[in-house]
Amino acid sequence: MSKKIALVTGAARGIGLATAKLFIAQGWNVAMIDRDGDELQSASADLSDAKPFIFDVSIPEQVDQMIADVLGAFGQIDAVVNNAGVADFLPVEETSFATWRRIMETNLDGVFLVSQAAIPALKETKGAIVNIGSISGLRASTLRVAYGTSKAAVIHMTKQQAAELGEYGIRANCVCPGPVKTKLAMAVHSPEIISAYLDAMPLGRYGTENEIAEVIHFLCSDKASFVTGQIVAADGGFETTGVGLPALRRK
Ligand SMILES: NC(=O)c1ccc[n+]([C@@H]2O[C@H](COP(=O)([O-])OP(=O)(O)OC[C@H]3O[C@@H](n4cnc5c(N)ncnc54)[C@H](O)[C@@H]3O)[C@@H](O)[C@H]2O)c1
Repeated sequence: MSKKIALVTGAARGIGLATAKLFIAQGWNVAMIDRDGDELQSASADLSDAKPFIFDVSIPEQVDQMIADVLGAFGQIDAVVNNAGVADFLPVEETSFATWRRIMETNLDGVFLVSQAAIPALKETKGAIVNIGSISGLRASTLRVAYGTSKAAVIHMTKQQAAELGEYGIRANCVCPGPVKTKLAMAVHSPEIISAYLDAMPLGRYGTENEIAEVIHFLCSDKASFVTGQIVAADGGFETTGVGLPALRRK
């Protein structure tokens, strides 16, 4: 049987790169997408079952070309992982419209554009979409008016996609990671934020890129063939514990 093809955006580093490597280890071929050409070339250099495609997911013309190039190289797409993302932590009053748009362009527009452009190919394979949300889209917080709102919208878009694309056999699910020490997170997590996260999470630690990749891979695989429209937090229990009042703890 020929190998399945996964298209992973934001694959040059972090969760996207771990996801690309896990899919390859599970016998897939991977179209690695990123707008950071240098980092993508070096990340993909040693991965024989992957090909790099340098594109920006927030630009409609680039997305159309990207899907055409991936189909030209691999002939089919079995899974789309919308992982490319950017973050900025600012108070509402200090979030300029330019910042708002910068976050929305990648985190929300990019997911819409890539998913839409891939639909004809996904119809052929009865494929799967996995969108990467965040605990910031599940729970509100200070400083995340743009980032949190973009991720909440991605969560709802996933449900829209599941509702509409199910008739073609296309599944759509969303993985909401908790904190993982990637370049994106470390740019906005101060030491105080890190220790507050550790205090608030039942598992008491940051996740690893690979722990998120495992959930993404499961949702794209045939093992999840009856799962669609679901939002899965891979977050060490952060979301489920609410405010987790310290005064209610035993220690
Ligand atoms: N790390 C965390 O703690 C965390 C928590 C929750 C959710 N997430 C989400 O996980 C996803 C991956 O994040 P990460 O932590 O691995 O980040 P990262 O910064 O390490 O990697 C993101 C990658 O996406 C690429 N990218 C960004 N905008 C792009 C665009 N418009 N077009 C193409 N490529 C683009 C970047 O060049 C980079 O290689 C993001 O959607 C992020 O919001 C991360």
